[in-house]
Amino acid sequence: MDMVTIGSITEAPGAAGAALPEAPTAVVGAAGAGDTAPPRAPAARTVDAVKVYGRGEAEVRALDGVTVDFEAGHFTAVMGPSGSGKSTLLHAVAGLDGLTSGRVFVGDTDLGTLGERRLTRLRRDRIGFVFQQFNLIPTLTALENIVLPLRLAGRRPDPVWVGEVVSRFGLDGRTGHRPPELSGGQQQRVAVARALANRPEIVLADEPTGNLDSRRGAEILSFLRQAVRELDQTVVMVTHDPVAASYADRAVFLADGRIVDELRDPTSDSVLDAMRVLGG
Ligand SMILES: Nc1ncnc2c1ncn2[C@@H]1O[C@H](COP(=O)(O)OP(=O)(O)OP(=O)(O)O)[C@@H](O)[C@H]1O
Ligand SMILES: [Mg+2]
Repeated sequence: MDMVTIGSITEAPGAAGAALPEAPTAVVGAAGAGDTAPPRAPAARTVDAVKVYGRGEAEVRALDGVTVDFEAGHFTAVMGPSGSGKSTLLHAVAGLDGLTSGRVFVGDTDLGTLGERRLTRLRRDRIGFVFQQFNLIPTLTALENIVLPLRLAGRRPDPVWVGEVVSRFGLDGRTGHRPPELSGGQQQRVAVARALANRPEIVLADEPTGNLDSRRGAEILSFLRQAVRELDQTVVMVTHDPVAASYADRAVFLADGRIVDELRDPTSDSVLDAMRVLGG
């Protein structure tokens, strides 16, 4: 079986055709934040975030006072029922959508204090976003989509890194295709590759494995986890899948726009238990 590498890590990809394997127990390696490292400021956080859509009868409180820290160099899963505010929270953290009240910080920067240009620059330079609906540009090829954020930033793509992401995601031979010529799962992998192409400080991924079979899903999840361990990236991933959440260092649960629970070092069993309790 081929071995794949990110930085100094070498890991065998999941077995073909196997069920999505449970993530092994988290081991923070020497390259990650050591046990003795001083506490770090969160990579991003929200303070009493409220987002109201509509008015009167049609009013929806998509976020109803969310205060949450996303720790730097950690992998956080955001879970919760459909309509609980997961995408709204991710969009707010990325500065894609303003809040009704409350604040969002990326590092020390209060997004509410930024004008549109500085916000765009911060998003471009520091954040990689995987949209639930992919948001690929249909007239560009897969590769052009992947390197688009870099091009927009006037930066030259690192061909070794981009090549590694492309082949790790099984997109070799598909880079010249346009999104309408790709399967849903391939489009999703292009969307994830695009978010990782410039090695952003923070990756915000909205159900990045929702359209993938278990093997492809496992490849993307272990890639994200390695990015956290080896490249010290911060990943926040929305998922409905307890097995996907088990790749994270922490799972936070939303219901009706509020954080209602949190698990450290989640396993698929502990996530399922929490979902049962919250659902009941
Ligand atoms: N643009 C909008 N206008 C009005 N209501 C909206 C808008 N976007 C989201 N909502 C509402 O806000 C609530 C939260 O939506 P959100 O997309 O954040 O949910 P979610 O947890 O991501 O759900 P899913 O798991 O289905 O993706 C929902 O009730 C939704 O209908
Ligand atoms: Mg959503």
